[in-house]
Amino acid sequence: MTLGSEWWRSAVIYQIYPRSFADGLRADGIGDLPGITSRLPSLVQLGVDAVWLSPFFTSPQKDAGYDVADYCDVDPLFGTLDDFDALERRIHELGLKLIVDLVPNHTSDQHEWFRAALASPEGSVERHHYMFRDGKGSAGELPPNNWESVFGGPAWTRIHDTDGSPGQWYLHLFDTSQPDLNWEDPWVHQRFHEILRFWLDRGVDGFRVDVAHGLKKAPGLPDYTPPVLADGTTAGSMGAVGPAVDDADPPTPPYWAQDSVHEVYREWNEILASYPGERVLCAEAWVEPLPKLARWVRPDEMHQAFNFSYLETPWDGAALRTIIDDSIAAFAGVGAPSTWVLSNHDVVRHATRLALTGDHPQGAGVGPLSTGIPDRAFGLHRARAATLLMLTLPGSAYLYQGEELGLPEVIDLPDAARQDPTWFRTKHERYGRDGCRVPIPWEADAPSFGFSTGAGGTKSWLPQPAYWREYSRDAQLGVAGSTLELYRAALHERAASALGLGGIEWLDGYPDDVVAFRNGAVTVIANTGTSSVTLPGLELLIASDASAALQLPPDTTAWLRS
Ligand code: GLC
Repeated sequence: MTLGSEWWRSAVIYQIYPRSFADGLRADGIGDLPGITSRLPSLVQLGVDAVWLSPFFTSPQKDAGYDVADYCDVDPLFGTLDDFDALERRIHELGLKLIVDLVPNHTSDQHEWFRAALASPEGSVERHHYMFRDGKGSAGELPPNNWESVFGGPAWTRIHDTDGSPGQWYLHLFDTSQPDLNWEDPWVHQRFHEILRFWLDRGVDGFRVDVAHGLKKAPGLPDYTPPVLADGTTAGSMGAVGPAVDDADPPTPPYWAQDSVHEVYREWNEILASYPGERVLCAEAWVEPLPKLARWVRPDEMHQAFNFSYLETPWDGAALRTIIDDSIAAFAGVGAPSTWVLSNHDVVRHATRLALTGDHPQGAGVGPLSTGIPDRAFGLHRARAATLLMLTLPGSAYLYQGEELGLPEVIDLPDAARQDPTWFRTKHERYGRDGCRVPIPWEADAPSFGFSTGAGGTKSWLPQPAYWREYSRDAQLGVAGSTLELYRAALHERAASALGLGGIEWLDGYPDDVVAFRNGAVTVIANTGTSSVTLPGLELLIASDASAALQLPPDTTAWLRS
């Protein structure tokens, strides 16, 4: 009703990470498609509009399914294609939309295309589907360039030819088990057109496109050393770090954000447009600054792009006002809505992240030896305020499973349980992303907190901490002041007041650390400072902290009737 004719412009989209949502098959401690189907009513009760499923395709699971061995089948861990069809039917019956993940930058090394490439000689058609190059040095013993994998270590691996002699090298921007495809080869384009059609024919409403800034690499694959930018970060996370530059517009690394990548999305846009209904593409593109990211959502390309610049903005009034203005302007410039996102399966959960102190680079994760980890209650207090602010912003919002329960990052996973390739490739220097992927607690008093529902369902592929009990869904449902009820109330009011389709009118007269604006019928005041602020004499609709009344405490957001 309030979504408007292009549903994705204002939808709230809930990310399901299938391994960790609900285990309904075999009670093996790994979530699956039947488990998701059985828990769908909880998403209707929450009040979201759409579901994005992270990969459930055939995969050796070296990167939790982002290493795909067959794009058109379901991994037996998660069920079957029939289970997928049943899930999709139920999602649509419930009035929700369904987006699936598409991983086009790389395949698994177990994909038949890559196996064929290894079995074929240098210079063959099969090798041309991937990024094979000769090594440097007198005997080709050095990698073709200095690029490093996002997960740590070199981005190249040398193969042995079928006669056992050392051969060429292949590029993998991520794990060794994830060889990059060669998007200069029209054959690769054709295969992905078929994959898109396979899922569109089955009825999906769209795709979240993994590493949508990758795919194309600069001709000649030149060496690259990312400089340190004025804000202390590096441009493009791969390669050794070069000298500092004073540049607000970061240089483009040769492996990210190449201009020619856009032709791929124009082709895909045409395919989606040829289907009935409103099918969408959402870019996972870690591209800055925002006007550059906006190129991914020009009218003939994708529909949405994750706004990671927003996700990375600290809990600071001035920074938040700037990023909100910049985001709306950048996306409106190409006729697209902004998205808003605070958590996903790759970042420290925002109930921990927004209150971290010290330096915590994205993707590094946090663990037992990290410093600056907030107290759980403090982190959650701030996260609730941040979510309440996000859900009033015009555009589409993404939620990550478990944030509606206020889940923190799990800091103290036993080392032996960790599975993220980052942990292994950096020789345990970076914890990686397992801490945000721990299975969801549904029922306080059930084994595995109700995650694994089969007989004897006590398992969970990453151990759930004992304190997960207090975050369980059934311990929060119907409980005034719980995080789940806060999300439900906010989503209800967001839909009723059509906030996703609205606009921002900034309000004057507040201190710098207060974010204050009107979006149609709702006035929003978010206090990122350290002292209370006086609220205007309007009806209080929702507050992230129950003590908010005439005064709004620090780290609290309130919605008032305008
Ligand atoms: C994306 C995914 C991440 C994965 C990587 C490689 O960033 O979100 O989980 O590891 O791509 O596919």
